[in-house]
Amino acid sequence: MQLLNGNEVSKQIRSTIRTEVEKLTQNGQRVPHLAAILVGEDGASQTYVAAKAKDCAEVGFESTVIRLDAGISEQELLAQIESINHNPLIDGLIVQLPLPSHINTQTVTQAIDWRKDVDGFHPMNVGLMFKGLPCYLPATPMGVVLLLEHYQIDCTGKHCVVVGRSDIVGKPMSALMLQKNATVTVCHSKTQNIEAVIRSADIVIAAVGIPEYIKPNMVKQGAVVVDVGITRVADATAKSGFRLKGDVAFEPVAQQTSWITPVPGGVGPMTRVGLLLNTLRAAQQHQNKAAH
Ligand code: GUN
Repeated sequence: MQLLNGNEVSKQIRSTIRTEVEKLTQNGQRVPHLAAILVGEDGASQTYVAAKAKDCAEVGFESTVIRLDAGISEQELLAQIESINHNPLIDGLIVQLPLPSHINTQTVTQAIDWRKDVDGFHPMNVGLMFKGLPCYLPATPMGVVLLLEHYQIDCTGKHCVVVGRSDIVGKPMSALMLQKNATVTVCHSKTQNIEAVIRSADIVIAAVGIPEYIKPNMVKQGAVVVDVGITRVADATAKSGFRLKGDVAFEPVAQQTSWITPVPGGVGPMTRVGLLLNTLRAAQQHQNKAAH
């Protein structure tokens, strides 16, 4: 068993991003600027947004976090988005999800200018992705693909089973694996004989959000296992009061795999670098357009 080391690979990619930022600066251009809107006080969302701002600072990007009260109206939120859409000094915009229940997530996602949609959630980017055209890919599936590519995991003709069908991970992941010439199956909570389906996979991508869902009896000998799950599980011995658990029972499953991602240190850091890559691309595209 070998580790798909997201910490290591993301470190290398961050270093290439820093070099690209230096090039922009040397050409007299702006550094990339990411804006993140956070509505309300959700603990996990606050942690994620803070991490995104820190990641930006580390590679030399500018970032702006806009914190809005949980009670803000949808209209007020849309007005904020519109203002950023028209701000030529901001390259990328994300609205951290989930949003409070009185706000329609689809309306908000579609209000973001798709040319600044570095989350890749806008239907325009989703459509471009499904057609295999240049677009902003959602960060997690993009990070998984970059990780597989780094370790030269050959996907051609392999049976890839994606477990989970979310808009953010499962669905786009299946499209990207199809583009890599895998034979793709998407499993979900209604799938019959799900264990047998997963057991037939050469590549398992688990994105269900159920801690340690994937057990050793569900994994074929020699399979590649990618664990997208990160669930906070209460742990009184941890300083934060919780521990992060993946969708895969790592210790017993790892023994059967050829390659596996750890949690933490696997997909998580690759997701973070995916957002940075999209923001860099947004900045490069906006500034090239502005120059012409
Ligand atoms: N909530 C959980 N994951 C994400 C993400 O990738 N982007 C945004 N905007 N919100 C999220």
